[in-house]
Amino acid sequence: MASTWILRTFGVLVVMACSVDAQLSTRFYNTRCPNVTARVGEIIRGHIRRDRTMAPALLRLHFHDCFVRGCDASVLLNNPSGGRGEKEATGNKFSIRGFEIIDDVKAKIEAMCPGVVSCADILALSARDAMRAFGGIDWAVPLGRRDGTITSAAEANRDLPPPFANFNTLSAIFRRKGLSVKDMVILSGAHTVGLTRCASMQTRLYNFSPTSPTDPSIDPAFAASLKRECKRGDNNTLIRNDPTKPTDTWDPNYYSNVLRSKSLFISDDAMKRSPEARKIVLTQNQPGSPFSKEFARAVEKMGRIGVLTGRQGQIRQRCSRGN
Ligand code: HEM
Repeated sequence: MASTWILRTFGVLVVMACSVDAQLSTRFYNTRCPNVTARVGEIIRGHIRRDRTMAPALLRLHFHDCFVRGCDASVLLNNPSGGRGEKEATGNKFSIRGFEIIDDVKAKIEAMCPGVVSCADILALSARDAMRAFGGIDWAVPLGRRDGTITSAAEANRDLPPPFANFNTLSAIFRRKGLSVKDMVILSGAHTVGLTRCASMQTRLYNFSPTSPTDPSIDPAFAASLKRECKRGDNNTLIRNDPTKPTDTWDPNYYSNVLRSKSLFISDDAMKRSPEARKIVLTQNQPGSPFSKEFARAVEKMGRIGVLTGRQGQIRQRCSRGN
């Protein structure tokens, strides 16, 4: 009796472990393209050496891929004929960067292992390797994603979080993707690095409401310094997501900025507007912050959203179009 129970329980555990492993695995290309991870790392290091600002850009590209139709490289597809693709969505147009780097990596990997490595895996690896080269953060990238064939601006407009969203809207968007409030607060910490166009700041600085043209929840001295960098009507100048530090470095400073009302977006400010989220912000802002460790866990989880595996989808030959 007891032995049957043990066998059954053990059997269930083995099946569970296999089903997790069968999804994605760091060993996925070990026999089919053994050098893929090393080669992607090498190519990406070259790109980041030439332009360090592309590392946060690739991390954002991975995030925007995963939130729309799962991590299936749909963000890389050019517009379908007669329709508008994800590249045309409000949250992507004029601001998402890094497509040419992914195309370069894909071309070199195709030359090495034709038809084997998906664009979705190349994007996930490139984001990690870019941030590894940027410095201060690293995470595991289990592989085996396959590529989708559909891209839609309407879906991206629905699924990507807007910078003016409040806590409830944001947590609902993340929940729909299987991510918790904690995942959301930790992943938002990516805004400790990277660039923003002044376009994204115009409303908060100059057009907030009829009675208060500048958002009163921004620290007044910080708002004044932002206005010096982003003049009214300037949609093009790039400013740093964290302009409070001398160089763009990976650190928990985002959380200090949120608490001091020195973050760029209403969505960042929202991270302290619920007791649950605020507690997480306070923990990240302590000495010996667990931020990087937590981020590694959360971004790996993000990389599993809605993945196509096995016989689903395809391995695109070119990332910008279906086969
Ligand atoms: C919580 C909801 C979020 C909102 C509303 C949001 C919004 C934005 C906006 C508006 C920009 C500036 C775009 C521009 O003006 O060019 C930006 C930049 C950026 N975001 Fe987010 N974001 C969110 C979450 C995330 C997450 C989860 C990640 C990554 C895990 C991320 C990573 C980045 C990075 C790295 C940049 C800089 C990109 C670059 O340098 O090109 N964001 N975000």
